[in-house]
Amino acid sequence: MCIERKLPVTRYYGSKRKLVKKIWQVFEEQNIQFNSILDVFGGSGIFSYYAKLKNKDVTYNDIFKFNYYIGKALIGNSTTSINYDKILNLLNEREGVIYKDTIENNYRNIYFLDEENHLIDVIVQNIDSEFNNEFEKASAYYVLFQTCLIKRPFNLFHRKNLSLRTNHTISNFGNKTTWEKSFHELFKQFVNELKEIQFNNDKINNITNFSALNCDIKADLVYIDPPYFNIKGSHLSYHSRYHFLEGLTNYNELANFISLEKNNKEICINQSMEFESKTNFCNDMKELISKHINSIIVISYRNMGYPSIEEIKNILSEFKPLKDIYIVNLGEYSYALNRSRTKANEYLIIGR
Ligand SMILES: C[S@@+](CC[C@H](N)C(=O)[O-])C[C@H]1O[C@@H](n2cnc3c(N)ncnc32)[C@H](O)[C@@H]1O
Repeated sequence: MCIERKLPVTRYYGSKRKLVKKIWQVFEEQNIQFNSILDVFGGSGIFSYYAKLKNKDVTYNDIFKFNYYIGKALIGNSTTSINYDKILNLLNEREGVIYKDTIENNYRNIYFLDEENHLIDVIVQNIDSEFNNEFEKASAYYVLFQTCLIKRPFNLFHRKNLSLRTNHTISNFGNKTTWEKSFHELFKQFVNELKEIQFNNDKINNITNFSALNCDIKADLVYIDPPYFNIKGSHLSYHSRYHFLEGLTNYNELANFISLEKNNKEICINQSMEFESKTNFCNDMKELISKHINSIIVISYRNMGYPSIEEIKNILSEFKPLKDIYIVNLGEYSYALNRSRTKANEYLIIGR
């Protein structure tokens, strides 16, 4: 059984939103049978969300707390109905409350305008003091994070580049129409979007926040969509791309973790080299697969990267018989945020 629903729009580096149906088609064509999935590198949550639509038992996992909240809002099931007006009301300052100004004070001219920084300070503190229910809290953070992401050039936080947005009239870059909408308007838009995408499938879906190698959940099918390394060029970690959102989930400590020597004032909370170091990647992958040898393993990776698809297949063959390993080319795919001209192909490496 599958519930028909619009998929959430994800502004996330490496999101499989445009590929998830194709991936599922492969499962059906190859008659891969399973009831439960573990999405180890959950990211935007789109794979888990699709699995929830297909009524599987789902565990979404990601190393970052901000992603945990995104996963919880999309994949968790609410036990009480969500009060969307209460989320909308987070935009308002409470009378008599003295708010801290951590973002406004430390992030002037870096990612957002002053008034937006002020709103971010207010919203996070309102969430922290008023939302005790984890699902409700996750829903509120989901709306805040999507609003922050859509306002950012490239939807990222790796550079101090607010001027790309504020100078957009003289630049041919960016999303002018979206950027001209106010923070309030976009926040409201995402509350409405959330109303449409949240649904209850009456299952206990698990949302976890472990590093991949510390995630001991078992499932029939383990989906592995790790960070990708280009053969050439320097590697940008997920932490560098999204540290600001991770910082917001640790609002009371974040000021102590700001790297003042960096132009973008990266917040050094929850940095990890696991799966983010080219030299260790293959060892990390071996260790991860060894934890799930009794599961169907499905790895997403692109060619023209390190390691090659053939190398990943060789790693998998240390744990699964070669006759049970399949490589499926999902076709040419260019990520929205990837501006290199050469298009890589997306692959699935499957071991049964
Ligand atoms: C390629 S993205 C996954 C994209 C996801 N499948 C989607 O469709 O949106 C990789 C994800 O792995 C997470 N990540 C990076 N290192 C990790 C680790 N050691 N353990 C768990 N998650 C990690 C990142 O936060 C990022 O969300």
